[in-house]
Amino acid sequence: MDALTAALGARLEEARARTLDLLAPLDDATLARQISPLMSPLVWDLAHIGNYEELWLLDRVAGIPTTSAAYDDMYDAFEHPRAERPALPLLTPPEARAYVADVRSRVLDVLAGLDTVTFAPWPGLVPHVYDMVVQHEQQHVETMLATLQLLGESDPARGYLPPEAGVLRPTSRPTREEVFVDGGSFTMGADVACAYDNERPAHERAVAPFLMDVTPVTCGDFLAFVDDGGYAESRLWDPIGWDHRRRARLEHPQSWLRDGGGGWLRNRFGHIEDLRPDEPVMHVSWYEADAYARWAGKRLPTEAEWELAASWDGISDKSLGPGQDRPHTREPRPNLWWDGTPSPFGPLPADPVDGPGSPHGCLQMLGDVWEWTSSDFAAYPGFRAAPYREYSEVFFGSEYKVLRGGSWATHPTACRTTFRNWDFPVRRQIFVGFRCARDAPAETRPG
Ligand code: AVJ
Ligand code: FE
Repeated sequence: MDALTAALGARLEEARARTLDLLAPLDDATLARQISPLMSPLVWDLAHIGNYEELWLLDRVAGIPTTSAAYDDMYDAFEHPRAERPALPLLTPPEARAYVADVRSRVLDVLAGLDTVTFAPWPGLVPHVYDMVVQHEQQHVETMLATLQLLGESDPARGYLPPEAGVLRPTSRPTREEVFVDGGSFTMGADVACAYDNERPAHERAVAPFLMDVTPVTCGDFLAFVDDGGYAESRLWDPIGWDHRRRARLEHPQSWLRDGGGGWLRNRFGHIEDLRPDEPVMHVSWYEADAYARWAGKRLPTEAEWELAASWDGISDKSLGPGQDRPHTREPRPNLWWDGTPSPFGPLPADPVDGPGSPHGCLQMLGDVWEWTSSDFAAYPGFRAAPYREYSEVFFGSEYKVLRGGSWATHPTACRTTFRNWDFPVRRQIFVGFRCARDAPAETRPG
């Protein structure tokens, strides 16, 4: 075993520890039932993690046939949409645990004998496939956390919040609200081994000068929009979003509750707590973010603006982020899911003193909350699907909006300034907020 295979094995095992720790407090009945039609039964996620690993790291990399064609079908996300997964003859929780453990022990055997010099049969692609499998498991842990937030909202008595969850600390707001980001051409995307196909190829993008909010929009900011009647003003909303808002009767972000006396509470994994005005707002759809931005006289940033502000000062090398093996780290410790450190189980208030500043002085771009951008999920020029079309390519188009930056629930392995997440603009069950931008008026441009 060489240093690279040892590191890959350690990262696979880190992800597995996180998966099993997350699910350990839940009984088998909770694991097996569907908590929300938007999400899979948790036991589907668990077995799907193992099946994906088996498909790529045993079958494809090592030519070892998978355990069962029936599993390959049942746990194929494209064969069975989330809503129909509970009707499948899924493995029970004990069976799923045994299955993923069996796959993992065989994967570690293969890894121990892997020749990382030649990486037969796919020189160049095999390290990415391991990276992809690690990121896949970490992404599904975040998905399962979103499911557990919905569990807490539907049934606070059965809420999920581990006792060791960190306390959300109060801090002050930054003194500056916006930063000026000069335009020009910058390199968007990254051609590094860990990057998904949708982040490639790195290419030049021209961006006009703009102003970017220093922090994500907070609950206090968003409450002003609610109190000002923002949810009743159709002219602030995209027409499709307005229709959706009416039909779904949306009047505030998901997880907010009125306290009966004119104040607000929020439900965090089943715990009813005071709404904290200084915390980034979370669980809003793209349409709510878009309406807020219009109300504030701003707009959502494009993903090119977001990535430029997060990664590049025009002088030094591009900053990719704090994950393992990532070069050029400028954000020392954003609020991501750090192994070995208790998670706060939520975003932190903006902290201008020790906050993780981006090259342009924006705070909390990585971690805390995913951020909606104005951009549709589209291929970069020169895109090539690798290693399979169903990770990204089948989702390209105007149905999905791009989210950037990761959340408090994202593992550093699956977080980069170039990482692209996507979802339908009506969705708000993920740990998502936003920040605003606007075109730079001529008088703000230096010189
Ligand atoms: C990138 C979060 C949109 O959850 O659908 C998991 C990640 N891909 N399994 C998703 C993913 C395959 C994906 N997102
Ligand atoms: Fe998956």
